[in-house]
Amino acid sequence: MTPTASLHDVPERLAAELCAADRWLVLTGAGASADSGVPTFREAQTGLWARYDPQQLATPGAFVDDPRLVWDWYCWRRELIATAQPNAGHFALAEIAKLKPELRLVTQNVDGLHQRAGSADVIEFHGSIERNRCFDCERPAAGVPVSSSGPPPCPECGGLLRPDVVWFGEAIPPAALEAAFAAAAKAEVYLSVGTSAAVYPAAGLAEVAAAAGATIVEINPTPTPLSASADHVLEGTAAAWLPAIASTLVEAVS
Ligand code: APR
Repeated sequence: MTPTASLHDVPERLAAELCAADRWLVLTGAGASADSGVPTFREAQTGLWARYDPQQLATPGAFVDDPRLVWDWYCWRRELIATAQPNAGHFALAEIAKLKPELRLVTQNVDGLHQRAGSADVIEFHGSIERNRCFDCERPAAGVPVSSSGPPPCPECGGLLRPDVVWFGEAIPPAALEAAFAAAAKAEVYLSVGTSAAVYPAAGLAEVAAAAGATIVEINPTPTPLSASADHVLEGTAAAWLPAIASTLVEAVS
């Protein structure tokens, strides 16, 4: 069990730094959705999918070998995500962004929970499980009926549709990469939430922000490679600490 953070747990010096800063860059990872019950790739799968390794299914090679298997696995993940709800951390981030309109939010999650909690202009590093595109011609495909009976054909070229997510071995969408690193280069606060901070290029955002003089803050129940160099480590969950940060900001303006 991690302790539940209250308003008073945000260290005073950090609270002052957070209140004074306008340009925030927040990077979230799988841990931000953990309290919503979304299973991560590193967790054991359940039920029908228990014998498959997600890190082997989420690759272009797996899709070429067995498109139906990969598609059906994503249908299962989509159903899980559709029944999940944003947690207190997602809602707090949307609230923080109202108080700090220059905040940029980058997520490695494909579940759309930040958007459902009210965050706008989310920079999606790994795409979105809610969209599809063609594996061959890469055009987005909206409004195509999807079901768990293999990938439907692309309406444009007849190729196979795939989820619009970034698989292992694929590049981050260039626009997302550019927007995130531009925000890192002028960040006053860099907040890493629920990410192992080990997967590049996302992990490199902290280095760019630190070089720009940003205060580096981490929220995670366990240490990561970022912890040693962070200015503040808030040990615990996103659902506990983000509301505490939001309350600190609200109290400062009231
Ligand atoms: N609140 C905050 N952090 C949490 C919580 C929680 N409730 N629960 C777990 N964590 C932390 C873990 O301690 C871990 O450091 O979240 C982190 C999740 O790490 P990863 O599973 O490595 O997720 P992420 O950093 O998003 O991975 C990056 O790698 O698996 C691929 O493409 C996938 O987007 C993913 C990328």
